[in-house]
Amino acid sequence: MSMKQASVFLLIQFICYIRPGACGKVLVWPTEYSHWINMKIILDELVQRGHDVTVLISSASILIGPSNESSINFEIYSAPLSKDDLEYAFEKWVGNWTYELKKLPFWTSYSKLQKISSEYSDMIESFCKAVVWNKSLMKKLQGSKFDVVLADALVPCGELLSELLKTPLVYSLRFCPGYKCEKYSGGLPLPPSYVPVVLSELSDHMTFAERVKNMLQVLLFDFWFQTFNEKSWNQFYSDVLGRPTTLTEMMGKADIWLVRTFWDLKFPHPFLPNFDFVGGLHCKPAKPLPKEMEEFVQSSGEHGVVVFSLGSMVKNIKEEKANVVASALAQIPQKVLWRFDGKKPDTLGSNTRLYKWIPQNDLLGHPKTKAFIAHGGTNGIYEAIYHGIPIVGIPLFGDQPDNINHIVAKGAAVRVDFDTMSTTDLLTALKTVINDPSYKENAMRLSRIHHDQPMKPLDRAVFWIEYVMRNKGAKHLRPALHDLTWFQYHSLDVIGFLLVCVVAVVFIIAKCCLFCCHKTANMGKKKKE
Ligand SMILES: *[C@@H]1O[C@H](CO)[C@@H](O)[C@H](O)[C@H]1NC(C)=O
Ligand SMILES: *[C@@H]1O[C@H](CO)[C@@H](O)[C@H](O)[C@H]1NC(C)=O
Ligand SMILES: *[C@@H]1O[C@H](CO)[C@@H](O)[C@H](O)[C@H]1NC(C)=O
Repeated sequence: MSMKQASVFLLIQFICYIRPGACGKVLVWPTEYSHWINMKIILDELVQRGHDVTVLISSASILIGPSNESSINFEIYSAPLSKDDLEYAFEKWVGNWTYELKKLPFWTSYSKLQKISSEYSDMIESFCKAVVWNKSLMKKLQGSKFDVVLADALVPCGELLSELLKTPLVYSLRFCPGYKCEKYSGGLPLPPSYVPVVLSELSDHMTFAERVKNMLQVLLFDFWFQTFNEKSWNQFYSDVLGRPTTLTEMMGKADIWLVRTFWDLKFPHPFLPNFDFVGGLHCKPAKPLPKEMEEFVQSSGEHGVVVFSLGSMVKNIKEEKANVVASALAQIPQKVLWRFDGKKPDTLGSNTRLYKWIPQNDLLGHPKTKAFIAHGGTNGIYEAIYHGIPIVGIPLFGDQPDNINHIVAKGAAVRVDFDTMSTTDLLTALKTVINDPSYKENAMRLSRIHHDQPMKPLDRAVFWIEYVMRNKGAKHLRPALHDLTWFQYHSLDVIGFLLVCVVAVVFIIAKCCLFCCHKTANMGKKKKE
């Protein structure tokens, strides 16, 4: 070690010593694809600020892994299946949700969704077991003395690790189907009268019929649909901890919930002090484009360009769909950059270029960009909001229809149906969004709302993680509702008690009256006698 290195090392040690929570150790339980893309932004920022970040990844991991520019540590555990198996599982899941579920009647569609969710749940459970039942790995993790566990709440296990390692827990979350984690584990009050349940595709201004629909969906999620095989997880968690417990209860121990949306996209609803909304934390000002791409963009002249991507999970679409899309794109005066990895469509116009990968944020931030054709994944939606770009939404699965509907409700998007869309539908939607100035104005309004925050979303996310490390948790922000049973929470016991009191008082008064009346009647009778 040179003198200079040694002094830098000592300086860092000194700073760590005087600022508790400054150089913490973070253990991460991640999820694949867009969830990882988003979480990695937080992790890179934590590393920048001197924290030590370790991500637990399986040997089957797809996107998650070491990269040259990042000094995140990776602890690899051996998964019970291969990378190909995992990729296939995701493909099946996306394929079913995109192409098949929507065609089925409501009930069958949810039954099928339940089936694929439960296969996914079992897979995650086998991953979790590979970590938790591995004594030497757990010993190593125990020895590392982490200050916080950061977990994606869409896949269980983070909460179990947090419990076993006696370490506070911070969740990163977009949503759980039916808001189940948010409601039952987080304790968020979400009245069905004005909070549309996620996946319902409703807005916050509901007619009576829509409120009936929303209530029915709430009941469906509350009493029937399970995102995870809860019985199996409850058993597993109880076995590991040696006491009866449930997944919901364990998730309820989270110190902080960082939700990846904000009031620019979300409809307002009540929240709790241990929730923060950090949507768009990954967005940044645009960087210059690669030279070839910049030349193509500039060649569009005053018409500008349209950016088209269906996200990190869908690289291509079926050939006939691709032809429908390509012939619509060929008819607009704009140039189009399309992220597509399939067979080149026959109807591809000379104004459209295909790319295996595009720097989406930089393109959306380019002054020549007029519109974004998007599937409605949260990351892409936020990049469009950040840069004020109107959207043509072609939602495929998950929260995408909801996201697009939110932006449609706010006047910055037109929705096109993926299953039934014709070339004309897509063309009309594109022309509307590009030529009707209200879409651009509304997109700019959302952008202003997004930027008008006292602290950037990424800084807030990092603040809360450091806060939890500094204060050894944030249990003081957790409301006491977690210690109540459901009937106590709704005050049913108190209401019942008060009702009994009222009934008793009424009964006693009635009895007294009757008694008195009887008496006076009797006395009257006596007097007469
Ligand atoms: C990372 O660096 C190594 C060696 O410097 C190089 O061979 C490899 O291609 C790089 N990988 C990426 C993804 O840039
Ligand atoms: C839907 O899932 C089944 C098995 O669960 C699979 O065989 C099928 O290929 C999937 N469909 C699509 C379109 O991916
Ligand atoms: C348990 O973890 C250790 C350390 O990470 C690893 O070397 C070992 O192969 C794992 N054992 C099993 C059975 O997966």
